[in-house]
Parts: sequence; C-alpha cells; structure tokens
Amino acid sequence: MEFSASIIAAFDPAKKIVVLTGAGISAESGVPTFRGEDGLWRRYRAEELATLAAFEANPQLVWEWYDWRRGIIGKAEPNPGHKAIAEMEQIFPYFSLITQNVDGLHRRAGTTRLIEIHGNLWQGRCVREGRVHEDYRCPLPEIPPMCTCGALLRPHVVWFGESLDQGDLARAYGLIEECDLLLVVGTSAVVQPVASFPLMAKQAGAFVLEVNMEPTPLSSLADASFHGKAGEVLPALLQKIKGHR
Ligand SMILES: NC(=O)c1ccc[n+]([C@@H]2O[C@H](COP(=O)([O-])OP(=O)(O)OC[C@H]3O[C@@H](n4cnc5c(N)ncnc54)[C@H](O)[C@@H]3O)[C@@H](O)[C@H]2O)c1
Ligand SMILES: [Zn+2]
Repeated sequence: MEFSASIIAAFDPAKKIVVLTGAGISAESGVPTFRGEDGLWRRYRAEELATLAAFEANPQLVWEWYDWRRGIIGKAEPNPGHKAIAEMEQIFPYFSLITQNVDGLHRRAGTTRLIEIHGNLWQGRCVREGRVHEDYRCPLPEIPPMCTCGALLRPHVVWFGESLDQGDLARAYGLIEECDLLLVVGTSAVVQPVASFPLMAKQAGAFVLEVNMEPTPLSSLADASFHGKAGEVLPALLQKIKGHR
C-alpha cells in the first residue's frame, strides 16, 4: 500500500490528530447495520424501536430489542482497524477519537480518549437523575433494568428525533476546529451534524484523510482517500508512520 510523503508528514508527532469513525470500522468485526435486512427483529424496524415514544409506550419491548442487539455485539471482537486506532493514541500526545458507533468496540480495543457521540449500548441512563450506569451483563437479569433510585433506566444512546448531548457536541466541535489532521474512517458522512465535521476541519486548515470501502460525498473534499478495508489500510498506515519516527 502506497502512502505519499504528504500523508506521512501529516502524522508528525507534534500534530493534533482526530479520528472520526462510523459503522464501517466495525463491519469487519461482524457487527450488523440495523438498517439492513438482517437488522429486522420480530418484524420491527429500528426506526420503530429506537425512539423515545416507543420506549415510553413499551420499555419492556425496547429493552428486549437492546438485549438482543447486545447479545450479537457482545460476541464481536475489536478488529485490526480498532486496534490500530488504539495504538495511535499511544503514539500521539494529541489524539482524540470521535465515534458514531454505539457498539463499544473502540473502548474494548483500548481507546480511552474518545467521544461516543451517539452513546453506548452497554450503558443505561436513569430517566429521573440522568446518571449513567455501565452494565456488560448479557442477557440482562432484569428487563427493563432499573436504577438504584427505583426509576427506569433507558439505553444511553441517541434515538431518532433526539439531539446529541450538548457537552459531547461542544467538545467534538472544539477538537475538530483545533486539529491538524482529521482521519475519517468507515462513515458514509451523511448523518448530521457529524457529516459537517470534515468540511469544518478543512476550513480550519486541517489535512483530511479518508478511509472507506467506497467513494463517499467526502472523497472529493478530502486531501487523500484510501478505498479499502479499514482493518487492512489502518494497520498498514500505522506501520508506515512508525517506520518514519
Ligand atoms: N457499530 C455500530 O455501533 C453501528 C452499526 C450500525 C449503525 N450505527 C449507527 O448508524 C448511523 C450510520 O452512519 P455511519 O456513517 O456510521 O454508517 P453507514 O452505514 O451510513 O456507512 C458505513 C460506511 O462504511 C463503509 N464501510 C463498510 N465496510 C467498511 C470497511 N470494512 N472498511 C472501511 N469502510 C467500510 C461503507 O462504504 C459506508 O460508507 C450512525 O449514526 C451510527 O451511530 C452504528
Ligand atoms: Zn436513578
């Protein structure tokens, strides 16, 4: 795999690096998209279950669906793409990850400086106090799960029609505006507001590098695009960067 001198230069250890990932980074771990045909569960579509209205009408049903998804994702393992990103955090003093994924695979790969902008499937949030509880048990012993205060927990994920956490979003905007290099991996770059991050970074002077199986709306804006599997391109890129240090 060929990486140009300008790409290697963009990974200078003094640079501020932000990685932005989407569902594509987890594809090689076998995590199904919830939009695909295999995403159907008891004949419901994700759009019918991943909403506050669905949860308020039937928390039991919504949690049963999440329990099923946790069962599938719990069997998946981080792949070489997740691991290469985790290793970048060890190499670069200024490193952050922003992910749209809720599967928790970046954490399991060892990434610690991350913003999970759409939440995390392994966390529940108290509907009364807003406190977040992490729970990796699967299946859950009690459905729907309850907070210690006695109120219901809801999945700590951003549902259709909900806005992102304002604190997470503000931190993400700050990182995007200050970064020198934005590496965008496995996202179709169409879901807002994340879809606007690459252009924001570019306008603020960053080098934008894309890794995706296919061309996307971002490809023409990026300084460079690699069309290949994240699990192959990222480890190769990491080796190259390490060789130049
Ligand atoms: N794993 C998860 O947590 C998960 C899974 C499905 C959907 N979602 C949610 O659905 C929304 C979908 O938006 P999105 O942009 O993340 O996903 P998307 O499904 O719209 O796009 C995935 C992108 O990944 C690319 N891709 C597929 N396999 C790849 C690989 N092996 N290497 C590199 N690229 C690959 C595809 O070409 C596509 O552009 C997000 O909001 C996300 O939160 C999350
Ligand atoms: Zn509570």
